[in-house]
Amino acid sequence: MTFSYSTFAKKFQTNSAVVQLMDDLGDLTLEAGYLTLGGGNPSEIPEMQAVFQTEMAHLLENQTEFDMMLSRYTGAAGIQSFRETVAGYLQRTCGWDVTAKNIAITNGSQTAFFYLFNAFAGDFENGPRKKILFPMAPEYVGYTEAGLHNDIFVSYKPEIRQLNNGFYKYFVDFEALEVDSSIGAICVSRPTNPTGNVIEDEEVAQLSELAKEHNIPLIVDNAYGAPFPGIIFEDVEPTWEPHMIMCLSLSKLGLPGTRTGILVASEAVINLIEGMNAVISLAPANFGAVLANRMIATDAVSHLSQNVVRPHYEAKVQTAIQLLRAELDSKQLLIHKPEGAIFLWLWFPELPITAQELYERLKARKVVVLPGHHFFPGLAEEWQHKHECIRMSYAGPAEIVAAGIRIIGEEIRKAFTEG
Ligand SMILES: Cc1ncc(COP(=O)(O)O)c(C=O)c1O
Repeated sequence: MTFSYSTFAKKFQTNSAVVQLMDDLGDLTLEAGYLTLGGGNPSEIPEMQAVFQTEMAHLLENQTEFDMMLSRYTGAAGIQSFRETVAGYLQRTCGWDVTAKNIAITNGSQTAFFYLFNAFAGDFENGPRKKILFPMAPEYVGYTEAGLHNDIFVSYKPEIRQLNNGFYKYFVDFEALEVDSSIGAICVSRPTNPTGNVIEDEEVAQLSELAKEHNIPLIVDNAYGAPFPGIIFEDVEPTWEPHMIMCLSLSKLGLPGTRTGILVASEAVINLIEGMNAVISLAPANFGAVLANRMIATDAVSHLSQNVVRPHYEAKVQTAIQLLRAELDSKQLLIHKPEGAIFLWLWFPELPITAQELYERLKARKVVVLPGHHFFPGLAEEWQHKHECIRMSYAGPAEIVAAGIRIIGEEIRKAFTEG
């Protein structure tokens, strides 16, 4: 039987690039013999797994928390005591002027982006259709289909600065950026997935000023950032002001299975999120909040981020870079300066094949990466650079990353010599 589907449903059918990509990632697994450098899974860090197990054992022994975890709907903005815990933690560690009324929990931060993009872009009663502005692309592929209307994103090419030793870094091209009444919000991931870029404090300050001037929010996607999970190798000042919406997540600490996103925003935005949670899922899941509550209340999460999570990824990225450099010189490969997150963004200037062809050749050799052109939501103009880059995760087991890099090296050398 063939049903007919609404335009709303069509957004979610398998013809979208992201759904296809996710399907692909679901099939091309480690178990199926693939070297998986493609997806966004965090590492299973033994010290972190041990902490989660201790916390889980504590919950099993503590009836009140156990009941809260499994047997209750909470308010639609999340468990009140967890919202208080998070607000207290952000006051103490970041100096932010927030209370529980500035905190809402969502089922993963991905859900929050869907809410926020459709709250600030799309059709408005008075005035033109609005868009979300990504100040620079590449940006997170998960944003691409998160608008209910097509065409609600606009983004700009970055300024590229070459650095020493075969590295480069993207900067926001403020000269090119246009913010007018058609922009409903500005959004940036920091650190950026896919590039590992951490836009500088001054760039954040400039974006924040632009947002304030136009009376629109600045959404900062902090899935990898400070204060937790702390996968950020630069010293940054995490700031929050009432016109900013800070999106945090427990996923990259090592808890993606709990689907816990944490939004920090003005009370008005939090009330809206509460309403959206209520309509869409009654209440967010309790599991992550109950499991992480003690870690956040005691500030242990800061200690773990700084002393376990960050050093783990710092060591892994350095190893991955050494292996890549042993395969390819800086004429064949430029690497975006890795400042955070769990990916390397590899640029093969003047590659004679497209990143999509490279992806297919690598897939045929059981190596999974993501081709660059998927990471430019809202960039209208064609840009060759999109087809010369790939994203690879370095979060997986060392031997998988090393074997994958060897094959990437072989395929790139072959592409440069034979096409
Ligand atoms: C930049 C970025 N933002 C948001 C998310 C969504 O994470 P979650 O929904 O698990 O909190 C991800 C996941 O990979 C991400 O990379």
